[in-house]
Amino acid sequence: MTDQSSAPAQDAARRDGFASRVGFVLSAAGSAIGLGNIWRFPYMAGEGGGAAFVLVYILFVLLLGFPVMMAEFSIGQATRRGAVQSFEVLAPGTRWSWVGRLGVSAGYAILAFYSAVAGWALGYLEKSVSGAFASPISADASGELFSSFIASPVTSIPAAALIIALSAAVVFKGVGRGIERASFVLMPIFFLLLLGLAVHSLMLPGAGDGLRFLFKPDLSKLTVPIVMSALGQAFFSLSIGMGVMVTYGSYLNRRETGLAPLALSSVAADTGVALLAGLIIFPAIFTAGMKPAGGPGLAFVTLPTIFSTLPMGSLIATAFYALLVIAALTSIVSMIELIAADLVDRKGWTRGRAVLLIAGVGFLLGIPCALSFGGSAFFTRFFGVPDGFFGLLNIAFGNLVMVLGGLFICLFVGWKWGMPQALKVLGIAEGKKLGVLLSFSIRWLCPAAIAAVLIFIVITGKFF
Ligand code: PHE
Repeated sequence: MTDQSSAPAQDAARRDGFASRVGFVLSAAGSAIGLGNIWRFPYMAGEGGGAAFVLVYILFVLLLGFPVMMAEFSIGQATRRGAVQSFEVLAPGTRWSWVGRLGVSAGYAILAFYSAVAGWALGYLEKSVSGAFASPISADASGELFSSFIASPVTSIPAAALIIALSAAVVFKGVGRGIERASFVLMPIFFLLLLGLAVHSLMLPGAGDGLRFLFKPDLSKLTVPIVMSALGQAFFSLSIGMGVMVTYGSYLNRRETGLAPLALSSVAADTGVALLAGLIIFPAIFTAGMKPAGGPGLAFVTLPTIFSTLPMGSLIATAFYALLVIAALTSIVSMIELIAADLVDRKGWTRGRAVLLIAGVGFLLGIPCALSFGGSAFFTRFFGVPDGFFGLLNIAFGNLVMVLGGLFICLFVGWKWGMPQALKVLGIAEGKKLGVLLSFSIRWLCPAAIAAVLIFIVITGKFF
């Protein structure tokens, strides 16, 4: 818990907090590592032509993602307030707090579509346990199974509700006793399952093709939408650009300096897990002679077909979907915490009331997401957007708003609040190499890169 005795007067409000650096990293990494790594990264890489997407993605993570995460931690640690109030404290009477508001709104939207997918994972966990993939099923049959599963609100809505309820219970317990403890238990299980599955996949006959697809780039395949999706995916996967990391940073002990290793560990863990997920999925796909561009259904249509033909397929499928559910829980927890911290800090709500409201709104918004796959014709078609209402939230909030939020956070830290202040909080000397690099990235590189990609999109009009 935070040390009360030496905390300055404004901390008298007894803010909850992380008890240890390891707990903090596991929680930040727990937020970052999620469906984004195991479900979204492989299908986006698959659609984006593989290695070219992966290369651009990794560049964005290192050059933009790491600095933005540091910027967020510095804001949070300096103010020890939620995503909106932090800006009010550092730039009183300005409109900067709208950056926080944008982030909090994105929190609701992402919670909604994300818990729909987490609900699918839960449903598939149940299917695996009950032996649905014990004997070989064809690609067509697997597609049928998935379409009928996600089209049926009777299963997909309660599954999403259960996931939200579980995560809300963790957030209700608070940061130290809830989030940190849950991450301590869940993340090691997660890593074990992940490594086991990756080793298994790498022994399949299609491993070579899978590796080539992921790591041998053909840059001529790059297009503006692919670069944008790599940029959006980098932000989404790291949970940056919307204030989650501001919020987590706000629960760090004030005396904790040297945040660079903490951010670096979270970024490295997140990227490592995305690549491992690729190593699990693509060898299996090439072994089965299927197509890597399977879209959002990749983890639910292609994989079960493959699992069902493997020795111990049911066990592997169970491990895989358990992995997805665990990964989703620690991320959903962070989305709820982002909003809860704001309601508690700014509106003086109790944690219980905040968590109830968020879970309720997330659930209600989640219904149209769960109905976007055939459950309701209206939400499925939703003005012609691919994947309907769900697809709209996924792309608009999961990609665009997070990237925009990242742009504003860089502009704020680099040009309004100021790099000297941020570096001081982070415990980095301005003249040192890391300080110079961070300043350059936050002030110039991130804003320029993000603006360039956005301008290209507007000019070409190609978003999807
Ligand atoms: N980073 C999480 C993932 O990769 C998703 C997430 C986005 C979590 C935004 C919190 C906020 O799955």
